[in-house]
Amino acid sequence: MISRFLSGVRGTILSPRNSSPLSKFRDFYCYTSQAASSLQQACEPFPYSEDEYAYVDWDNLGFGLMPTDYMYVMKCSENDRYKEGKISRYGNIELSPSAGVLNYGQGLFEGLKAYRKESGGLLLFRPDQNAMRMKFGAERMCMPAPSVDQFIDAVKQITVANKRWVPPPGKGSLYIRPLLMGSGPILGLAPAPEYMFLIYASPVRNYFKEGSAPLNLYVDDEYDRASRGGAGGVKTITNYAPVLKAIMSAKGRGFSDVLYLDSMNKKYLEEVSSCNIFLVKDKVISTPATNGTILSGVTRKSIIEIARDLGYQVEERAIPVEELMYADEVFCTGTAVVVAPVGSITYKDKKVEFRTDAEALSRKLYNTLVGIQMGVIEDKFGWTVEIE
Ligand SMILES: Cc1ncc(COP(=O)(O)O)c(C=O)c1O
Repeated sequence: MISRFLSGVRGTILSPRNSSPLSKFRDFYCYTSQAASSLQQACEPFPYSEDEYAYVDWDNLGFGLMPTDYMYVMKCSENDRYKEGKISRYGNIELSPSAGVLNYGQGLFEGLKAYRKESGGLLLFRPDQNAMRMKFGAERMCMPAPSVDQFIDAVKQITVANKRWVPPPGKGSLYIRPLLMGSGPILGLAPAPEYMFLIYASPVRNYFKEGSAPLNLYVDDEYDRASRGGAGGVKTITNYAPVLKAIMSAKGRGFSDVLYLDSMNKKYLEEVSSCNIFLVKDKVISTPATNGTILSGVTRKSIIEIARDLGYQVEERAIPVEELMYADEVFCTGTAVVVAPVGSITYKDKKVEFRTDAEALSRKLYNTLVGIQMGVIEDKFGWTVEIE
């Protein structure tokens, strides 16, 4: 969940970030200081290190942002194609005050993770799915998108460049955040004349750690997350700030996050602020069908395939909110939370509780998915991409 993900306990950086992990990139990295706030600075040589790991207290890693050494930037004009991207030092970027993204919210983001294997190699999980989702979203938001190959290549480059920030096996993962934005200046409401594709990364801990509490969700029938014909089905930045009010209000009353209903009937389950939802009843798993208002999560898709492979019946359909009353188990899926058990859901002052013990199906699905992502369970689906 984004809010949980960004506001959690920060891990500790134990050393200054003044070095690069890879000497082979040294010659073309551009040093960009935070203070100068610009990507347009002259390229300068800078110190680098061959350290295997950044000096981080990996046992106390959190979900907060921990900036790493490098970011990736690629630009293109309207009606053109992206050409050469560049790795540069992580730092602030310069934008015109009239950039399309700042004025009209012309922007998308993605999120995926890289894991370090016991053997030392790095694994990405289904980066092609994020690349395709960004292309689909860019079409909706009238932006040129990088090709699937360009996207995957850029994700590989940024992971390798920040390799020393990929946590040791079992301690977490490197969360990779690709952004696509209308960076060019525009005053009237229209697509921006220039676009920027940028990727940065941050190490994050595993969601399940001793003491992780199950989620307690609140069904909000006041605020809508998405509407029919809107952009709820794509990962546009404009879907997130409007739900902050609902999230803050729910958190203020002790809930972990908000579960939204469809805006037309206020009757069917949609999704949580930044993850998809599943219900389990006996051997049947149900999840709301993606109909344009719900984000088609990569984790959602993967869990559906894993569950079917394990012999469960999975239904993608409209789920009336009342069905929560009869569910044995409820869980959420997303890149940040992976598979998170839901302990209770409150709707119209009625609280329903669900099983969350170690034998719950969500734990089995979590273990299978994370096992594949970390390279400790055979990836018979062909989802992981080894990059070093
Ligand atoms: C609104 C929303 N739904 C669902 C998801 C889960 O998608 P994924 O599994 O691709 O991370 C996300 C996470 O990005 C999200 O923001």
